[in-house]
Amino acid sequence: MLNEAKAFIHLFYKETGRDEQEMVTRLKEIEEQIYINGTYEHTAEELTYGAKVAWRNSNKCIGRLFWQSLTVIDKRELHTEEVIFESLLEHIKFATNEGRIRPTITIFSPQDVRVWNHQLIRYAGYEMEDGIIGDSDSIAFTKVCEELGWKGNKTNFDVLPLVIQVKNRPAKIFEIPEQYILEVPIRHPEYNWFKELQLKWYAVPMISSMKLEIGGITYAAAPFNGWYMGTEIGARNLADDYRYNMLPTIAEHMGLNTKSNASLWKDRALVELNAAVLHSFKEDGVSIVDHHTAAQQFKKFEEIEKDAGRDVTGNWTWLIPPMSPATTHIFQKPYNNEKITPNYSYQPLPY
Ligand code: ARG
Repeated sequence: MLNEAKAFIHLFYKETGRDEQEMVTRLKEIEEQIYINGTYEHTAEELTYGAKVAWRNSNKCIGRLFWQSLTVIDKRELHTEEVIFESLLEHIKFATNEGRIRPTITIFSPQDVRVWNHQLIRYAGYEMEDGIIGDSDSIAFTKVCEELGWKGNKTNFDVLPLVIQVKNRPAKIFEIPEQYILEVPIRHPEYNWFKELQLKWYAVPMISSMKLEIGGITYAAAPFNGWYMGTEIGARNLADDYRYNMLPTIAEHMGLNTKSNASLWKDRALVELNAAVLHSFKEDGVSIVDHHTAAQQFKKFEEIEKDAGRDVTGNWTWLIPPMSPATTHIFQKPYNNEKITPNYSYQPLPY
């Protein structure tokens, strides 16, 4: 831990242009804390900078140009399920901001808190005798919620409750009040029939299952959000055959020949679904970015990092968008997928 702490404190003082003498004092203090308690506490400034750099180091993320704009909310002092729930609602409200989405992270006490949800807002999924209702990605977690006493309406878009665990107490379950949940009904700029498919998606992707590591300290509950890139919804969530599987239905409405792969019905349906997603979010004033613009922004990020003398690490398989990847510069480049800290990473499911 001391080595990790030293590396992070050096980076923090160097990149933020802080005083070298102060750093020496701070390092002594940290060494003492670790010696006495087996761990140490970040200052608010260290925490804030660490969370931002963790975004900068996120190899799978194409949106990293904006890493410095992250709003960091320090909630390390909270230790009851109810107040943690309140602070998650505050996160949702602040981040949503009536559609002008603000990249935000709320950081809880490193090892005492766990949010069981994959995202703060996410649709339930149910395995029924005659097929799946809702989001197949949520089937296991939905069962957990039901075991905790929750009952969904069995629509395709039931928003799951928040499940919060503090220390080794039993997890507590909280329903998110409707007024906190901004959603976008999906319609198409030209196809009038599109709205009859009754598709929608929530406005803000807030990942709550990943841990944040800074200077040897692991924060197990640190939900964070940016805004969506259209393809996440239009080329994956609503399109994958094991998720909402909408391409056959859309292709049929378009009158395409779904019997022939070579008619490119999947590709044509995919383009129109993605056009609909971007159009709907834009018209509702909800932040979203198309994959071409996101790739250009990522290019800018690469240039800025180069000028700052830093190497950009990246995971090519995640950085390329899931539609028309070869139209972006990312497709044509190798990326080094080495993982550097601070960073976000997966952790074992708590259930
Ligand atoms: N791909 C995930 C989803 O569709 C969200 C991941 C985070 N995305 C983001 N734009 N920050 O729900």
